[in-house]
Amino acid sequence: MTTTFDTALQQMLNPVNAEFFRNNHWERESLYVPGPRDKFAELFDVKTLERIMTRSEVFIKAGGGSAAAVQLAPDQAKAAYKAGMALCVQNLEKYDPRLAAFSREAASSFGLMASPRFNCYISSDGKGFPMHCDCHSVWVLQIAGAKRWRYDNRPAMPYLWDALFAFPEWLKAFNIKHPDARIAAPVEDEMADQVLEPGDLLYLPRGTWHEPKAVGYSIALTWACHPRSFLDVLTDRLERDFERVPVPPTLTDGPPPSLPPSLERYFADCIERMRDRLAELTPADFYEAWRSEVFPQQGVPDALIAQLMTDGLLGQTLPQDFWATPNLGS
Ligand SMILES: [Fe+2]
Repeated sequence: MTTTFDTALQQMLNPVNAEFFRNNHWERESLYVPGPRDKFAELFDVKTLERIMTRSEVFIKAGGGSAAAVQLAPDQAKAAYKAGMALCVQNLEKYDPRLAAFSREAASSFGLMASPRFNCYISSDGKGFPMHCDCHSVWVLQIAGAKRWRYDNRPAMPYLWDALFAFPEWLKAFNIKHPDARIAAPVEDEMADQVLEPGDLLYLPRGTWHEPKAVGYSIALTWACHPRSFLDVLTDRLERDFERVPVPPTLTDGPPPSLPPSLERYFADCIERMRDRLAELTPADFYEAWRSEVFPQQGVPDALIAQLMTDGLLGQTLPQDFWATPNLGS
Protein backbone atom coordinates (compact mmCIF):
# COMPACT_ATOMS: atom_id res chain seq x y z
CA MET A 1 0.00 0.00 0.00
CA THR A 2 1.35 3.42 -0.81
CA THR A 3 0.95 6.42 1.41
CA THR A 4 0.50 9.98 0.20
CA PHE A 5 2.87 12.17 2.13
CA ASP A 6 1.98 15.78 2.66
CA THR A 7 4.10 18.52 1.24
CA ALA A 8 6.09 19.59 4.34
CA LEU A 9 8.11 16.41 4.71
CA GLN A 10 8.40 15.87 0.96
CA GLN A 11 9.72 19.40 0.42
CA MET A 12 12.35 18.89 3.07
CA LEU A 13 13.51 15.61 1.49
CA ASN A 14 13.33 16.58 -2.20
CA PRO A 15 14.40 15.08 -4.56
CA VAL A 16 14.36 11.92 -2.37
CA ASN A 17 10.87 10.43 -2.27
CA ALA A 18 9.40 10.56 1.25
CA GLU A 19 8.07 7.02 1.06
CA PHE A 20 11.46 5.75 -0.11
CA PHE A 21 12.92 7.57 2.89
CA ARG A 22 10.45 5.92 5.28
CA ASN A 23 11.12 2.43 3.91
CA ASN A 24 14.89 2.68 3.64
CA HIS A 25 16.27 5.32 5.99
CA TRP A 26 13.90 6.03 8.89
CA GLU A 27 15.64 4.77 12.07
CA ARG A 28 17.87 2.63 9.81
CA GLU A 29 20.35 4.54 7.71
CA SER A 30 21.76 8.07 7.46
CA LEU A 31 20.92 10.19 4.43
CA TYR A 32 22.65 13.23 2.94
CA VAL A 33 20.59 15.30 0.48
CA PRO A 34 22.38 18.21 -1.23
CA GLY A 35 19.99 21.04 -2.01
CA PRO A 36 19.77 24.40 -3.71
CA ARG A 37 21.05 27.14 -1.38
CA ASP A 38 17.58 28.63 -0.91
CA LYS A 39 15.83 25.30 -0.18
CA PHE A 40 14.86 26.20 3.40
CA ALA A 41 14.50 29.98 2.85
CA GLU A 42 10.71 29.94 3.20
CA LEU A 43 10.86 27.93 6.42
CA PHE A 44 13.55 29.75 8.39
CA ASP A 45 16.24 32.41 8.06
CA VAL A 46 18.80 34.27 10.16
CA LYS A 47 16.44 37.25 10.65
CA THR A 48 13.85 34.95 12.24
CA LEU A 49 16.52 33.48 14.49
CA GLU A 50 17.62 36.94 15.65
CA ARG A 51 14.00 37.93 16.33
CA ILE A 52 13.44 34.80 18.44
CA MET A 53 16.68 35.35 20.37
CA THR A 54 15.45 38.73 21.62
CA ARG A 55 12.62 37.03 23.54
CA SER A 56 13.33 36.82 27.24
CA GLU A 57 11.72 33.38 27.67
CA VAL A 58 13.72 31.57 24.98
CA PHE A 59 16.04 28.74 26.14
CA ILE A 60 19.63 29.02 24.91
CA LYS A 61 22.30 26.48 25.84
CA ALA A 62 26.01 27.06 25.33
CA GLY A 63 28.69 24.37 25.15
CA GLY A 64 32.41 24.07 24.56
CA GLY A 65 34.35 20.97 23.53
CA SER A 66 32.92 18.73 26.25
CA ALA A 67 29.54 17.20 27.03
CA ALA A 68 28.79 19.99 29.51
CA ALA A 69 26.38 22.78 28.59
CA VAL A 70 25.09 25.82 30.47
CA GLN A 71 21.82 27.71 30.24
CA LEU A 72 22.14 31.34 29.10
CA ALA A 73 19.92 34.40 29.29
CA PRO A 74 19.31 35.73 25.74
CA ASP A 75 21.45 38.85 26.39
CA GLN A 76 24.44 36.63 27.30
CA ALA A 77 24.36 34.71 24.01
CA LYS A 78 26.53 37.00 21.87
CA ALA A 79 29.27 37.22 24.52
CA ALA A 80 29.29 33.40 24.91
CA TYR A 81 29.53 32.99 21.13
CA LYS A 82 32.41 35.49 20.94
CA ALA A 83 34.14 33.56 23.73
CA GLY A 84 34.11 30.49 21.47
CA MET A 85 31.06 28.61 22.76
CA ALA A 86 28.57 26.88 20.46
CA LEU A 87 24.97 28.00 21.07
CA CYS A 88 21.78 25.97 20.90
CA VAL A 89 18.51 27.95 20.75
CA GLN A 90 15.80 25.52 21.77
CA ASN A 91 12.18 24.75 20.90
CA LEU A 92 11.93 27.36 18.13
CA GLU A 93 8.53 26.07 17.02
CA LYS A 94 7.08 27.75 20.13
CA TYR A 95 8.02 31.17 18.74
CA ASP A 96 7.50 30.84 15.00
CA PRO A 97 4.20 29.81 13.37
CA ARG A 98 5.93 28.54 10.20
CA LEU A 99 8.08 26.11 12.17
CA ALA A 100 5.09 25.06 14.30
CA ALA A 101 2.96 24.38 11.20
CA PHE A 102 5.79 22.51 9.49
CA SER A 103 6.39 20.35 12.56
CA ARG A 104 2.71 19.48 12.92
CA GLU A 105 2.20 18.72 9.25
CA ALA A 106 5.41 16.73 8.76
CA ALA A 107 4.80 14.62 11.89
CA SER A 108 1.19 13.91 10.85
CA SER A 109 2.12 13.01 7.29
CA PHE A 110 4.70 10.59 8.62
CA GLY A 111 2.22 9.08 11.11
CA LEU A 112 4.80 9.88 13.72
CA MET A 113 4.00 9.49 17.40
CA ALA A 114 6.67 11.76 18.81
CA SER A 115 7.26 15.20 20.20
CA PRO A 116 9.24 16.87 17.41
CA ARG A 117 11.04 20.11 18.08
CA PHE A 118 13.25 22.58 16.30
CA ASN A 119 16.58 23.68 17.73
CA CYS A 120 19.09 26.00 16.07
CA TYR A 121 22.84 25.52 16.52
CA ILE A 122 25.15 28.52 16.06
CA SER A 123 28.87 27.71 16.03
CA SER A 124 32.09 29.50 15.13
CA ASP A 125 34.98 27.92 13.23
CA GLY A 126 35.89 24.46 14.49
CA LYS A 127 33.25 24.49 17.24
CA GLY A 128 30.58 21.87 17.85
CA PHE A 129 29.70 19.05 20.21
CA PRO A 130 32.18 16.14 20.45
CA MET A 131 31.42 12.65 19.06
CA HIS A 132 28.11 11.39 20.45
CA CYS A 133 24.84 9.52 19.77
CA ASP A 134 21.42 11.06 20.38
CA CYS A 135 18.37 9.23 21.68
CA HIS A 136 16.18 10.66 18.89
CA SER A 137 16.25 10.88 15.10
CA VAL A 138 17.43 14.18 13.75
CA TRP A 139 17.11 16.08 10.49
CA VAL A 140 19.79 18.75 10.07
CA LEU A 141 18.93 21.69 7.80
CA GLN A 142 21.93 23.91 7.01
CA ILE A 143 20.74 27.52 6.99
CA ALA A 144 23.93 29.63 6.74
CA GLY A 145 27.69 29.06 6.84
CA ALA A 146 28.98 25.50 6.66
CA LYS A 147 29.48 22.53 8.96
CA ARG A 148 31.61 19.42 8.62
CA TRP A 149 29.88 16.25 9.78
CA ARG A 150 31.58 12.96 10.47
CA TYR A 151 28.94 10.29 11.01
CA ASP A 152 28.16 6.60 10.84
CA ASN A 153 25.84 5.23 8.23
CA ARG A 154 23.88 3.09 10.67
CA PRO A 155 22.98 3.28 14.37
CA ALA A 156 25.42 1.79 16.88
CA MET A 157 22.29 0.96 18.85
CA PRO A 158 18.86 1.45 17.26
CA TYR A 159 16.75 2.16 20.33
CA LEU A 160 19.12 4.20 22.43
CA TRP A 161 17.19 5.88 25.26
CA ASP A 162 19.74 8.44 26.43
CA ALA A 163 22.35 10.64 24.73
CA LEU A 164 25.82 9.11 24.91
CA PHE A 165 29.22 10.75 24.35
CA ALA A 166 32.13 8.70 23.03
CA PHE A 167 34.44 9.48 25.95
CA PRO A 168 35.98 6.22 27.28
CA GLU A 169 34.55 6.75 30.77
CA TRP A 170 31.01 7.30 29.35
CA LEU A 171 31.24 4.12 27.22
CA LYS A 172 32.59 2.09 30.12
CA ALA A 173 29.83 3.28 32.46
CA PHE A 174 27.17 2.59 29.81
CA ASN A 175 28.42 -0.95 29.15
CA ILE A 176 28.59 -1.74 32.87
CA LYS A 177 25.09 -0.37 33.49
CA HIS A 178 23.58 -2.11 30.45
CA PRO A 179 25.63 -5.32 29.92
CA ASP A 180 23.06 -6.71 27.45
CA ALA A 181 23.03 -3.58 25.30
CA ARG A 182 26.79 -3.45 24.48
CA ILE A 183 27.41 -0.37 22.38
CA ALA A 184 30.61 -0.20 20.30
CA ALA A 185 32.92 2.84 20.25
CA PRO A 186 32.87 4.79 16.98
CA VAL A 187 35.42 3.83 14.31
CA GLU A 188 36.29 7.27 12.98
CA ASP A 189 38.27 6.06 9.91
CA GLU A 190 35.14 4.35 8.56
CA MET A 191 32.80 7.30 8.99
CA ALA A 192 31.22 9.45 6.30
CA ASP A 193 32.76 12.90 6.09
CA GLN A 194 30.55 15.59 4.61
CA VAL A 195 30.49 19.39 4.68
CA LEU A 196 26.94 20.75 4.75
CA GLU A 197 26.33 24.01 2.84
CA PRO A 198 23.12 26.10 2.94
CA GLY A 199 20.18 24.10 1.55
CA ASP A 200 21.78 20.71 2.37
CA LEU A 201 20.02 18.20 4.59
CA LEU A 202 21.40 15.37 6.70
CA TYR A 203 19.25 12.73 8.39
CA LEU A 204 20.73 10.70 11.26
CA PRO A 205 18.80 7.81 12.83
CA ARG A 206 18.58 7.60 16.60
CA GLY A 207 21.72 6.06 18.14
CA THR A 208 24.10 7.01 15.28
CA TRP A 209 27.60 8.28 16.14
CA HIS A 210 28.26 11.79 14.82
CA GLU A 211 30.51 14.79 15.32
CA PRO A 212 29.71 18.21 13.83
CA LYS A 213 32.27 21.03 13.54
CA ALA A 214 31.61 24.46 12.01
CA VAL A 215 33.65 25.52 8.99
CA GLY A 216 34.12 29.30 9.21
CA TYR A 217 30.80 29.63 11.01
CA SER A 218 27.56 27.67 10.95
CA ILE A 219 23.86 28.23 11.58
CA ALA A 220 21.94 24.98 11.32
CA LEU A 221 18.39 24.05 12.20
CA THR A 222 17.67 20.59 13.56
CA TRP A 223 14.27 18.91 13.61
CA ALA A 224 14.53 16.33 16.36
CA CYS A 225 11.90 13.65 16.87
CA HIS A 226 11.74 12.21 20.34
CA PRO A 227 9.82 8.97 19.86
CA ARG A 228 6.95 7.83 22.05
CA SER A 229 6.94 4.16 22.99
CA PHE A 230 4.12 1.71 23.62
CA LEU A 231 4.92 2.00 27.31
CA ASP A 232 4.47 5.81 27.16
CA VAL A 233 0.98 5.36 25.70
CA LEU A 234 0.10 2.64 28.20
CA THR A 235 1.32 4.80 31.07
CA ASP A 236 -0.88 7.67 29.87
CA ARG A 237 -3.89 5.34 29.95
CA LEU A 238 -3.12 3.92 33.39
CA GLU A 239 -2.20 7.27 34.93
CA ARG A 240 -5.86 8.18 35.22
CA ASP A 241 -6.41 5.26 37.59
CA PHE A 242 -3.17 5.08 39.50
CA GLU A 243 -1.22 8.33 39.38
CA ARG A 244 -2.54 10.06 42.45
CA VAL A 245 -2.90 7.09 44.78
CA PRO A 246 0.00 7.34 47.26
CA VAL A 247 1.64 4.31 48.83
CA PRO A 248 0.46 4.35 52.49
CA PRO A 249 3.08 5.06 55.17
CA THR A 250 4.06 2.16 57.41
CA LEU A 251 5.76 2.79 60.78
CA THR A 252 8.95 0.74 61.14
CA ASP A 253 12.23 0.78 63.06
CA GLY A 254 14.41 0.33 59.99
CA PRO A 255 13.75 -2.09 57.12
CA PRO A 256 11.14 -4.69 58.19
CA PRO A 257 12.30 -8.35 57.97
CA SER A 258 9.39 -9.17 55.66
CA LEU A 259 6.61 -7.46 53.73
CA PRO A 260 4.37 -5.60 56.23
CA PRO A 261 0.74 -6.84 56.00
CA SER A 262 -0.62 -3.35 55.26
CA LEU A 263 1.75 -2.92 52.30
CA GLU A 264 1.04 -6.42 51.08
CA ARG A 265 -2.68 -5.67 51.02
CA TYR A 266 -2.08 -2.35 49.26
CA PHE A 267 0.19 -3.80 46.54
CA ALA A 268 -2.07 -6.82 46.02
CA ASP A 269 -5.02 -4.48 45.56
CA CYS A 270 -3.08 -2.31 43.05
CA ILE A 271 -1.98 -5.37 41.06
CA GLU A 272 -5.54 -6.64 40.96
CA ARG A 273 -6.87 -3.29 39.76
CA MET A 274 -4.14 -3.04 37.14
CA ARG A 275 -4.93 -6.57 35.87
CA ASP A 276 -8.59 -5.59 35.54
CA ARG A 277 -7.69 -2.39 33.74
CA LEU A 278 -5.28 -4.14 31.35
CA ALA A 279 -7.90 -6.79 30.59
CA GLU A 280 -10.27 -4.04 29.46
CA LEU A 281 -7.81 -2.42 27.03
CA THR A 282 -8.18 -3.13 23.33
CA PRO A 283 -6.12 -2.26 20.22
CA ALA A 284 -8.84 0.32 19.46
CA ASP A 285 -7.94 2.21 22.67
CA PHE A 286 -4.34 2.49 21.51
CA TYR A 287 -5.43 3.44 18.01
CA GLU A 288 -7.49 6.28 19.46
CA ALA A 289 -4.50 7.50 21.52
CA TRP A 290 -2.27 7.34 18.42
CA ARG A 291 -4.83 9.07 16.19
CA SER A 292 -5.49 11.95 18.54
CA GLU A 293 -1.78 12.56 19.07
CA VAL A 294 -0.62 12.24 15.47
CA PHE A 295 -3.62 14.09 14.01
CA PRO A 296 -4.55 16.62 16.72
CA GLN A 297 -7.86 18.37 16.31
CA GLN A 298 -7.33 21.96 15.22
CA GLY A 299 -9.91 24.59 16.18
CA VAL A 300 -13.60 23.94 16.77
CA PRO A 301 -15.30 21.11 14.81
CA ASP A 302 -17.54 22.38 11.98
CA ALA A 303 -20.47 20.38 13.38
CA LEU A 304 -20.27 22.27 16.67
CA ILE A 305 -20.20 25.65 14.88
CA ALA A 306 -23.26 24.58 12.83
CA GLN A 307 -25.10 23.55 16.02
CA LEU A 308 -24.28 26.85 17.74
CA MET A 309 -25.54 28.73 14.67
CA THR A 310 -28.75 26.68 14.72
CA ASP A 311 -29.22 27.45 18.40
CA GLY A 312 -28.74 31.15 17.65
CA LEU A 313 -25.84 31.42 20.09
CA LEU A 314 -23.36 32.75 17.54
CA GLY A 315 -25.73 35.51 16.44
CA GLN A 316 -25.75 37.21 19.84
CA THR A 317 -23.84 40.44 20.27
CA LEU A 318 -21.58 40.55 23.30
CA PRO A 319 -21.79 43.55 25.64
CA GLN A 320 -18.87 45.94 25.11
CA ASP A 321 -17.34 45.29 28.55
CA PHE A 322 -17.72 41.48 28.25
CA TRP A 323 -14.00 40.64 28.55
CA ALA A 324 -13.45 43.18 31.32
CA THR A 325 -16.15 41.72 33.57
CA PRO A 326 -15.81 37.94 33.54
CA ASN A 327 -18.85 36.05 34.72
CA LEU A 328 -17.54 33.73 37.41
CA GLY A 329 -20.73 31.73 37.46
CA SER A 330 -22.19 33.29 40.61
FE1 LIG B 1 23.71 15.35 18.12
